[in-house]
Amino acid sequence: MRVHDSSIDTRSSAFVENRETYEGLVSTLRERMQRAIDGGPGRERSIERHRARGKVMVRERIDMIIDDGTAFLELSTLAAHGQYDDEVPGAGIVTGIGLVHGVPYVFIANDATVKGGSLVPVAIKKHVRAQDIAEQNRLGVIYLVDSGGAFLPLQDEIFPDKDHFGGSFYRQARLSAQGLPQLSVVLGGCTAGGAYVPALSDEVIMVKGIGRIFLGGPPIVKAALGEIIEPDDLGGAELHTHISGVSDYIADTEHEAYGRLREICETTAQRRIGDRHGWLDWIEPEPPVYDPTEIYGIISADDRIPFDSTEIIARLVDGSRFSPFKPEWGDSIVSGFARIWGHLVGVIANNGIIFSESALKATHFIELCEQRRVPLLFLQNTSGYMVGRDSEMAGIAKHGAKMVSAVANATVPKYTVLIGGSYGAGNYGMCGRGFNPRFLFAWPNSRIATMAARTAQTVLVDIRLSGMRGEDTTPSEVETLRREVAHQYETQSDPYYATSRLWDDGLIDPVHTRDALGLCLALAARQDAPTPGPGIVYRM
Ligand code: COA
Repeated sequence: MRVHDSSIDTRSSAFVENRETYEGLVSTLRERMQRAIDGGPGRERSIERHRARGKVMVRERIDMIIDDGTAFLELSTLAAHGQYDDEVPGAGIVTGIGLVHGVPYVFIANDATVKGGSLVPVAIKKHVRAQDIAEQNRLGVIYLVDSGGAFLPLQDEIFPDKDHFGGSFYRQARLSAQGLPQLSVVLGGCTAGGAYVPALSDEVIMVKGIGRIFLGGPPIVKAALGEIIEPDDLGGAELHTHISGVSDYIADTEHEAYGRLREICETTAQRRIGDRHGWLDWIEPEPPVYDPTEIYGIISADDRIPFDSTEIIARLVDGSRFSPFKPEWGDSIVSGFARIWGHLVGVIANNGIIFSESALKATHFIELCEQRRVPLLFLQNTSGYMVGRDSEMAGIAKHGAKMVSAVANATVPKYTVLIGGSYGAGNYGMCGRGFNPRFLFAWPNSRIATMAARTAQTVLVDIRLSGMRGEDTTPSEVETLRREVAHQYETQSDPYYATSRLWDDGLIDPVHTRDALGLCLALAARQDAPTPGPGIVYRM
């Protein structure tokens, strides 16, 4: 594969200006992440109280469990950002992937310093998403339980529906049945439904003095039976390890519990990271020739000015080597082969609007990757498929549908990164959330919506004026509508709005993208080959 010949001038004023703007975006991202970790109203007091009880902070717990010197890939740190009066940083739950004795596990850990670790609707979504990641990537799950269970004021949004609390227990039971270890350490409350997290686990450790499991806590027992009982006597570690058998091990301290957990992990017979299976082509990795921080200067500060996605690819992939497919045709999509941390991938990236030719080229390339069993990486930056009479006459709807069908039916692992705009059906054809990519990350400059705010303004005003209420609409009402639509679309297409609702698996700094994707691909490489598709390549 040839090394990409970059045409970026890192001394140009545009580059310098772009870089300054992007550094601002990255620093905002860092500040907001830090706030999710230890900020928020009244958080200082609850952190103090948590520590005064001798308890360890949630991320330190994870650090005590994972292998020394290894990184933890945290997901959706900014879940719930700006929701629930901004009182539930990170949705009160930490999820991600870490290594124990070289084996990757999904971690699902409650943060008791946020609303007692109780689960708001987005927390349930984050919990369930982490379990889905475990299933797709064949990973065991470690639950660090310290939770008040369902966040009761919003019980109707948490309790009864398919992917609500019940869905998490459904998943847990099925993950276990698939041979994916489900391990719990109980470090706080597990009340009512919450009791089923440890109860459905393959092995359970309880920490004396802090871990408690009960279907009804002392207030419910008092109300129902008139019994007055201390929490530890109702569901403490001694009771459950020595009498009920709900717990398998008891530990005096958190430290001891994590040692025990690591011992259990030595016996789970799971494949280690780096245990590569032949189907995914791999060679020794090499770093990109071009510095990944140059991405900051390539992405235009003004989102109306396009940037060349090939220059982005060159800063993400091994040796900046990229072998383009069909480079002379359908050039609003760049497709081709490259390697990330040694793993061969098929990259599909936008260079603007998707035209019929580009859609067909992408479809052809997806078929090639499917036939060769090469994972697909989508880099989204598009305002969608081309509209207008010429495009319709050329059959953009059917060509776009071929691309959408090919993406939906590809059986190879798919990964998506939003590097710019993700608008309209472009989001679908480029493997948006609805198309089940194994992981979907977004950059802090990205935007996601049916259409851009500028377009939405015009469309909605035109609809109003040509509709039943058109004749009665005054110019000042038109102006108000225009302002409201712009505000709505700008707010809702903001990447923080998106990540808060888990439309992605996390906002990441472009510079960390290569490492995150490297881990995701290494997870796929330790699995057996995905079930093959039909293997036919139709020329488009
Ligand atoms: N729903 C809503 N809010 C809850 C909650 C729940 N299930 N559990 C805890 N909280 C909130 C508290 O109201 C408090 O909110 P605030 O910070 O706005 O005042 C915060 O979480 C901390 O709770 P607190 O009781 O002060 O903390 P604690 O560390 O002493 O106790 C628990 C933590 C989880 C053991 C305790 O709060 C508890 O037992 N909660 C109820 C558990 C329950 O019955 N769940 C049923 C679920 S179906």
